[in-house]
Amino acid sequence: MSSVINARALLSLAEEARQASYSPYSNITVGAALLTAEGRVYKGANIENASYTPTVCAERVAFFKAISEGERDFLAIAIAGGEKDKPSKADFPPCGVCRQVMAEFCNQDFYVIWGNGEKITKKTLAEILPDGFDKNSM
Ligand code: THU
Repeated sequence: MSSVINARALLSLAEEARQASYSPYSNITVGAALLTAEGRVYKGANIENASYTPTVCAERVAFFKAISEGERDFLAIAIAGGEKDKPSKADFPPCGVCRQVMAEFCNQDFYVIWGNGEKITKKTLAEILPDGFDKNSM
């Protein structure tokens, strides 16, 4: 299944999602595009808050949109982020909290993709969250 994932196409949907970012405090805009096993894509953008801690990353917005619509089977997520109105950074990997959310809902071979037109990184969840704590640890 993973061989059919088009990293560049998913990343361009993440770029689109970036446009909706609400990030007046950091001025870092982030977009995510989450691909389900049935081929649907859920987009997310980061949403900040004046009180800071309620801020939610783009990846988790995409996951929670999908989960709350009943989706449970995911293949990959692409992430595009950088300074507002500037090109996405080549190195914009997901934060640890988002990796933990991925671990709750995804298999070890779930693909996490980030980058821009010049450089794309595609790694499995196992690679970016080794020895993670998840339902198998409970
Ligand atoms: N951010 C994300 O949306 N995803 C990440 O994986 C890292 C950080 C957001 C949170 C905050 O709005 C801004 O980027 C700066 O940290």
